[in-house]
Amino acid sequence: MKIFVAVCFLFAVSTSAYVVKSRDEHLQFRNECIAELKVPTDLLNQYKQFQYPNDSTTQCYLKCIFVKFGFFDTTNGFSVENIHQQLVGAAAEANHGDDLHTKISSCIDKNEQGSNACEWVYRGATCLIKNNLPLVQRSVATQT
Ligand SMILES: *[C@@H]1O[C@H](CO)[C@@H](O)[C@H](O)[C@H]1NC(C)=O
Repeated sequence: MKIFVAVCFLFAVSTSAYVVKSRDEHLQFRNECIAELKVPTDLLNQYKQFQYPNDSTTQCYLKCIFVKFGFFDTTNGFSVENIHQQLVGAAAEANHGDDLHTKISSCIDKNEQGSNACEWVYRGATCLIKNNLPLVQRSVATQT
């Protein structure tokens, strides 16, 4: 039995590329990004209201969060799959052919205009937030 469980666990780990992040991890990412970027309190208060002004600190804050989640990296850009899986949660498998996938994809671009990474994430992230994806909102503005 123990061996069976261990084998199943290994199988699960090696086949699932993206690991859904917990609420504790959200909080940790948020705190790390706030510290890294020295985000001032007035901006944090705006984030709590889901207001993300178009300034470089906010752009880089959203990028920092997205990188820590595994939603974005500077080489490959956004991962629609990872964002989707995080939204549906660990208990379900994201169906990458469904409407939610299309909704996420519609906010993502390949940065044809060549903006810096912070601006690039800001464009995508604010679109996802505007489209009312509740979990994206919670992920970026998690408060306790
Ligand atoms: C943010 O501001 C810059 C400079 O004004 C502008 O080019 C860009 O389109 C804005 N981004 C968004 C998502 O509104």
